[in-house]
Amino acid sequence: MSASESTEPDVAIATPIRIFDTTLRDGEQSPGCSMNAAQKLVMARALDTLGVDVIETGFPASSEADREATRLMARELRRPTLAVLSRCLPGDIETSLRALDGIARPRLHVFVSTSPLHREHKLRMSKQQVLDLAVTSVEHARKYVDDIEFSTEDGTRTEHDFLAEVVGATIAAGATTINVPDTLGYATPDEIRSLFRFLIETVPGARDVVFSAHCHDDLGLAVANSLAAIEGGARQVECTINGIGERAGNCAMEELVMALKVRGAWYGADTAIDTRRLVATSQLLTRLTGMQVQRNKAVVGANAFAHESGIHQHGMLRHRGTYEIMRPEDVGWSDSRMVLGRHSGRAAVSHRLRALGYTLEDADLDRVFAAFKDLCERQRVIEDGDLEALMHGDVAGDGYRLAAMTVSDRGGRASAQVELSDPDGRKVTESALGDGPVDALFGALSAATGLDFALESYQVHSVGLGADARGEANLSVRDGETALQGSGTSRDVIEASALAWLDVANRVRRAQTQAPARALRATS
Ligand code: KIV
Ligand code: ZN
Repeated sequence: MSASESTEPDVAIATPIRIFDTTLRDGEQSPGCSMNAAQKLVMARALDTLGVDVIETGFPASSEADREATRLMARELRRPTLAVLSRCLPGDIETSLRALDGIARPRLHVFVSTSPLHREHKLRMSKQQVLDLAVTSVEHARKYVDDIEFSTEDGTRTEHDFLAEVVGATIAAGATTINVPDTLGYATPDEIRSLFRFLIETVPGARDVVFSAHCHDDLGLAVANSLAAIEGGARQVECTINGIGERAGNCAMEELVMALKVRGAWYGADTAIDTRRLVATSQLLTRLTGMQVQRNKAVVGANAFAHESGIHQHGMLRHRGTYEIMRPEDVGWSDSRMVLGRHSGRAAVSHRLRALGYTLEDADLDRVFAAFKDLCERQRVIEDGDLEALMHGDVAGDGYRLAAMTVSDRGGRASAQVELSDPDGRKVTESALGDGPVDALFGALSAATGLDFALESYQVHSVGLGADARGEANLSVRDGETALQGSGTSRDVIEASALAWLDVANRVRRAQTQAPARALRATS
């Protein structure tokens, strides 16, 4: 059923749903997604521009990097609420309270597990001990901050009567938002809808606070469950860009937001997100973490609006509503096939920025254009996510750059020579032999950088068609405990592979020079 033929009731006033973004906390703590404080700041600026209501900056007790990131955001971001996560432990709460210093709209987010499995095996606590801990923590925190979110970790697997008791007691203790996480992604939409209804209808004081859903995607139900929670009365949803997060990830913001927009009449609810920025924000996160989104991913995947079959193309040519329920430009896909690169001028960059929703004064455009030109020295094709990164101050280009390369493969033994400029701008030339061109190339890059890592996967595919076609290479590697990804794009797949290898190498370098790895992780 196309939107125009919908039989949905017309709802004049949409209920506002708060978007609580946890890309920088629950998302960032998952393998392959770690960011340093400067990268988190760049992402936070983009989330602010996107219109996110609450940004969870991190888990201050876990690392100096999270404390530093929170400090950087506190200095700059005045509109969104900035939340920090804390376990119900006096030391954690003190650290988090200090981290909230200077934040314009501070929120303390405290959590404790409530389910029988977690009580018995993780906390080794009785129901009464969990209840007391939750209440004393909220009461203590409320002395210093007005905006307190309390989360019942593994809430959906908790006995309903006990869950209601904890929720009621923490509301009485001063919590202003109650989050009921589906920590293991175990619930079904019907269960979640009824659970939220039950809590909101029966717990004393429930109507004076905001209920929040936090769904994980272990069964691929995170978005459906979050939507069901809204039907059950939740007014805040916790989600991440691209759905990144522990294991199978969290509720994907772009999917949730577009479901509410496209099916607004059904849900009678909407968010304040500027949907035209979804694709660029998704690409920015990919650029910062190296973590690619699958091509058929809803809304932001490369194929989300591609029509390949003849029947679909024919239908689309007659009426785009035949096979499209939303317009690509409404989520930020460019309808132009113009590729930005070193030959693009100021006007082309300004045109693309306007399509992304940025109208810049001359001086600002000069600054972004200069950064764009600089980036073109290192990268042949500039994507929307790269522009988004430049807009938010990520001009980080330190590291190894490819200056030249030659690869030859004669009679089964391949050889490669690379010339790089190293992080200090010096030229390094190295060569290597290998079992094939890629093997030789990676050997030469390893010799030139002095870096070596175990490749976990290497994929090459083509992006675009005809004259615009480019090769994209994606690499996953393991550097000790850390999983890292990198990608590269070029008209030549071997060069794309070299760029992907260097992307990983630069991430390994940054990870090595970054603050020590976090000592503890929040839960999923
Ligand atoms: O998944 C979860 O339960 C969490 C809480 C800490 C909110 O991430
Ligand atoms: Zn979580």
